[in-house]
Amino acid sequence: MGAGKSTAARELGGTDADHLIESAAGKPIAEIFREEGEAAFRALEEQTIVLALGGGAVASPAVRDALADTLTIWLDVDVDTCWERVRGSDRPLAQDETAFRRLYEERRALYAGVADVVAKDVHDVVLAAAGVHVERGALRRLGELLPGDGAVALVSDPQVAGIHGMDAQLALGSRLTETHELPPGEEAKTPAAVDRLWQELRLDRSGTIVALGGGCTTDAAGFVAATYLRGIAWMPVPTSLVAQVDAAIGGKTGIDLPQGKNLVGAFHWPARTVVDSALLETLPDLQRLEGLAEVVKAGLLAGEPFWELPDDELVRRSLAFKAAICLRDPHERGERAILNLGHTFAHALEAAAGYEGLTHGRAVALGLLAALRLSGRDTQLVEDVLRPERARVDRERAWQAMRRDKKARGGEIRLVLLGPDGPQYGVVLPEADVRRELDRLIA
Ligand SMILES: NC(=O)c1ccc[n+]([C@@H]2O[C@H](COP(=O)([O-])OP(=O)(O)OC[C@H]3O[C@@H](n4cnc5c(N)ncnc54)[C@H](O)[C@@H]3O)[C@@H](O)[C@H]2O)c1
Ligand SMILES: [Zn+2]
Repeated sequence: MGAGKSTAARELGGTDADHLIESAAGKPIAEIFREEGEAAFRALEEQTIVLALGGGAVASPAVRDALADTLTIWLDVDVDTCWERVRGSDRPLAQDETAFRRLYEERRALYAGVADVVAKDVHDVVLAAAGVHVERGALRRLGELLPGDGAVALVSDPQVAGIHGMDAQLALGSRLTETHELPPGEEAKTPAAVDRLWQELRLDRSGTIVALGGGCTTDAAGFVAATYLRGIAWMPVPTSLVAQVDAAIGGKTGIDLPQGKNLVGAFHWPARTVVDSALLETLPDLQRLEGLAEVVKAGLLAGEPFWELPDDELVRRSLAFKAAICLRDPHERGERAILNLGHTFAHALEAAAGYEGLTHGRAVALGLLAALRLSGRDTQLVEDVLRPERARVDRERAWQAMRRDKKARGGEIRLVLLGPDGPQYGVVLPEADVRRELDRLIA
């Protein structure tokens, strides 16, 4: 009582049942279909519901039985906090403090007995529902965290393999049967690179791809997992800040075409995602700044300064924020669009730069300036944290890129802005205002 179960259930409200089924079953839906049949999947679907279970419910053996095949999350909040939240309320079991504390102690063992995951706050509940395991030092426990029981292929890039590959291999132990390298950077996200990996893989359908690396590795390896043998399980272990707070979260995988970035891909939610913030210690400063742009974006959307937190929390909060949105809107039919804050401008600048000399993170930092200005907000924090420098690109080219973006969406440039009651998407402003703000970002 008082732990925040109802808040957590609300946060997951409207959650797409598919992902909860996958998290609970520890395998992709395609595999459930294949191994257990559609009827079994439908039965799981019927049973999938987010329930804030009353604190006393687990005292009943029947309830404990029912929880056996259910992803059960224990929201473990200390007794003082719980008591502060419920004292003075009219809840019958929260009238006497001594009795309340005794009940709390008595029930702990029951909770520990039924819980699959222990969460310390609502963000942990979101992470558990999304199948994301956040733990400093988790790289050394990869073997225990592996879903399923089949063979494992480790996929990495040359730099990350050189730094963390050995630790990962040791941790994966005897289930590791093959290791592969994708080319560095965006070169990984090409048809040629994924074709090579498709052909090299020896896994059968019970296998799991473990993708260790930045967003380029997780995007490409995740796409291979989505397509190889019509889809097998995968487990990203993101190593860059971009990948930990953004690329490896939300189930989007894909590769680039000469015509543009991320034009071929699939939604393929990982069986589990393992996030170890200790891996960031070897990340070059410039790469860190790339990720910080997305952290600032998430913090602005959430209305909380995530960027001021120490690394572990900065990562956990930013990624939980994205995970909650993706669980509620996995296929980007609505709310997920807010994650594009600053990105319409950023994409126009990147296109005008010909995707050279201006990184995504630097472009997003500029795009956030424009979004804040159009929202009537102060830009100081973006200036201080991200120190954006105006882009050296052709103004007309940038504007044309923005208009092309507009055509693709049917008619008008739609922006994400920060309104008085939170983020708004699909906002249409006079073109002259949008162009003025775009021009201000260019040197
Ligand atoms: N799927 C999504 O939803 C999504 C979201 C955001 C970005 N992305 C994609 O992510 C990609 C960018 O990701 P990125 O910035 O991580 O690029 P990246 O994978 O190229 O990694 C950046 C560089 O950092 C190195 N690196 C990574 N981790 C390291 C570590 N711990 N120590 C030392 N070096 C390390 C890599 O070797 C690489 O050289 C883009 O292709 C983008 O489209 C995808
Ligand atoms: Zn981005």
